Amino acid sequence: MKKIGFIGIGKLGLDCAEVFAEKHEVRGYDIYPRVSNSVKVCDIEELVDQSEWIFIAVPTPHAEGYDGSVPSSHMTPKDFGHDAVIDAINNVNRYAKDSKKVVLISTVLPGTTRNKFVPLLDKKHQFVYNPYLIAMGSVKWDMVNPEMIMLGTEDGSLTGVAGELHDLYETIMQNNPRYEVGTWDECEAIKIFYNTFISAKVGLVNMIQDFAMKIGNINVDVVTNALARSTMRIMGPKYMTAGMGDAGACHPRDNIALRWLAAEYNIGYDLFDTVMHAREVQAKNLALFLVDQAQRHSLPIVIHGKAYKPDVEYCIGSYSTLVGFYIREAGLPVVYVDPLADDRANCLDTIDGPAVFLWAHNRKITYEYTGNTPDTQPYCKIESGSIIVDPWRKLPVDMPGVAVLHYGNTRT
Ligand SMILES: NC(=O)c1ccc[n+]([C@@H]2O[C@H](COP(=O)([O-])OP(=O)(O)OC[C@H]3O[C@@H](n4cnc5c(N)ncnc54)[C@H](O)[C@@H]3O)[C@@H](O)[C@H]2O)c1
Repeated sequence: MKKIGFIGIGKLGLDCAEVFAEKHEVRGYDIYPRVSNSVKVCDIEELVDQSEWIFIAVPTPHAEGYDGSVPSSHMTPKDFGHDAVIDAINNVNRYAKDSKKVVLISTVLPGTTRNKFVPLLDKKHQFVYNPYLIAMGSVKWDMVNPEMIMLGTEDGSLTGVAGELHDLYETIMQNNPRYEVGTWDECEAIKIFYNTFISAKVGLVNMIQDFAMKIGNINVDVVTNALARSTMRIMGPKYMTAGMGDAGACHPRDNIALRWLAAEYNIGYDLFDTVMHAREVQAKNLALFLVDQAQRHSLPIVIHGKAYKPDVEYCIGSYSTLVGFYIREAGLPVVYVDPLADDRANCLDTIDGPAVFLWAHNRKITYEYTGNTPDTQPYCKIESGSIIVDPWRKLPVDMPGVAVLHYGNTRT
């Protein structure tokens, strides 16, 4: 039996504390009077002094008018408030006579824990960022049947205290949950992007509902149920590896044309514009990263793969050429290597000398759902002194004579 304290026993904290209290000795502190049959509600001094584990479940409130119940998309974006978390950390520092295991549950945006909270906590304490995926109305059930448990540590490794937290959860869990260990920042990101995936999904589904109402002869359920049963590409892990952008003969042009449909039927918004605009800025960001590498090292830029995907010749809708466009816009030349590409403009067969390569093709990622998994083989000799920018983060970083940069991995 462990001694556990909950700072903040509101909608989330009280139920979670009561779940722990079925197996452990649990105290709770709140700035508002709270009552519980199983959690001992006490003052902050007793809670900190008597608890080995201290869970912080205080609010990280949005500003007035930013909860989504009234229009807010026209308002200036704002971060959550952090005062209550900072107050809780200060209280741990003030009343702790020995080292505590501090677990922050409250939802914050990526980067907040490292930049704002950890520097405030006395060094003698241990800290884990551990956000919950819990929904109102089912807090206690969700607590012991979570989709996953996120354990955030400074360097993303399963540190001693994170391992102990894992063991503590094992005493109460009912569903043998999946544990995801990452940096504080990665766990902040998993939590907040989990929620935004749901928002995006609901936004897309309701957009189809809007089209049904405007176009006629469409039952939205027929459409969304067919998509829901599409487990090959849509409802599954496919397309969950960040890398090159959406491309090919169909997807970009479909979205571009749907912009017309949204306007034609006066839908009132244009999600396709947002998606396609993001795709272009993402290509530009990648292009500018390549430009920066080329300028730093005085090397030319080569895009390895011009067709929109490996093993085909089609350059229609290619993301490689979109990235190439932004490289040229930034003032640098760009060439391609691709033995199959049907558009041979600026395509070379060999590259003499070192270069900055964009590893645009990854045939394993593109085709592994078919069971055909051999990796992309180099389309030309990669000279020593080259830099390969791998947006798929799959090439080994210890290739002899070549520096491999995993675009999208900023862990140090
Ligand atoms: N409610 C949920 O289902 C849920 C799910 C996942 C994550 N979260 C996150 O958990 C956090 C808490 O959410 P909630 O819904 O329980 O909020 P809440 O407002 O219901 O509860 C927070 C409690 O903390 C208390 N409190 C405020 N300042 C305090 C302080 N300085 N010291 C001690 N106690 C203080 C409040 O009185 C309140 O009882 C938020 O960051 C929220 O985003 C909530």
